[in-house]
Amino acid sequence: MHGYVTDPDAPGGLRFADDLPEPTPVDDEALIEVRAVAINRGELFLLQLRDRDWRPGQDLAGVVVRPAADGSGPGEGTRVVCIAEGAGWSERIALPTDVVAPLPDEVSFEQAAALPIAGLTALRALRVAGPILGRRVLITGATGGVGQFAIQLALAGGAEVSAQVSAEDRAPLASRLGADPVVTDLDDEGLGPFDLVLDAVGGPVLKAAIGRLAPGGTVATYGNLAGEASLSFRDFAAAPLAKMVGFFHAHPQETRGEDLRTLARMTGDGRLVPQIGSVRSWEELRGTVEAMREREVRGRAVLTVG
Ligand SMILES: NC(=O)c1ccc[n+]([C@@H]2O[C@H](COP(=O)([O-])OP(=O)(O)OC[C@H]3O[C@@H](n4cnc5c(N)ncnc54)[C@H](OP(=O)(O)O)[C@@H]3O)[C@@H](O)[C@H]2O)c1
Repeated sequence: MHGYVTDPDAPGGLRFADDLPEPTPVDDEALIEVRAVAINRGELFLLQLRDRDWRPGQDLAGVVVRPAADGSGPGEGTRVVCIAEGAGWSERIALPTDVVAPLPDEVSFEQAAALPIAGLTALRALRVAGPILGRRVLITGATGGVGQFAIQLALAGGAEVSAQVSAEDRAPLASRLGADPVVTDLDDEGLGPFDLVLDAVGGPVLKAAIGRLAPGGTVATYGNLAGEASLSFRDFAAAPLAKMVGFFHAHPQETRGEDLRTLARMTGDGRLVPQIGSVRSWEELRGTVEAMREREVRGRAVLTVG
């Protein structure tokens, strides 16, 4: 079976192997034929950290070729979206049925593969402070993989959405998705105050975002692209009793499939439009990884398999 493994001696540290073992599903696992995968920024770090022969790949869409033996999950031939712990950049994968969700006909494999980690991060981070109907929400790094979903989901949830982007040329995308205002920094004291901030950027952006919180507001910190932030309680002076939540998309684990189903349904009915920056064959996966490292891909990087 074909698939990617880490190999420090190969170009880009990734080898396209043709001798991987066929997956052998246990009772609660379905066998999926993979049709499209996506790359997440966090996986770029993992590729550098892991040992030789590690099998990457978490976001994928495909078709069930053998349903789970215990009768759970979708039947043979169902088009699905899935989140894996790894080994997703392969022709086939066995996955527990609680991380597999069926796809509406309207959702392509490429759109579906764009959903899992970025979509779950946005959906679940927007829930950390309770209902967002009528609340003011700030999304930082807003034109990234997570950010573009967060803008759309926050608007669908009835929030007033502001966005921070890395540069002026990123602003039109955030505006088109419905964020207003869209800014490149958080210096303007008229911004907010925000009930909820979703922060991908960290560093000075996180520190400034805390200064724009409403009293009792919440910042969900899920990335630190700009490095560590140096914080003290004084940063919270304008927002007494505000909270900072360290957010991880994978929790709670047992409802990932349910949340994937929500993302797929919202994509099917047009409320969520994955912003896909790049679609290539998976034979060009290494070049896509490099393009992501150079910040040349805007939105999700998707690869078709087979
Ligand atoms: N905790 C979790 O569970 C979880 C889940 C998913 C992702 N993450 C992390 O969250 C972060 C974002 O993930 P992603 O998939 O959205 O990444 P992404 O697609 O690369 O998007 C990152 C966005 O942030 C912007 N950005 C980068 N550096 C910036 C800076 N110094 N100031 C302002 N904006 C900046 C980028 O701008 P450009 O367009 O200019 O590059 C891009 O729009 C990553 O660190 C990732 O590892 C964590």
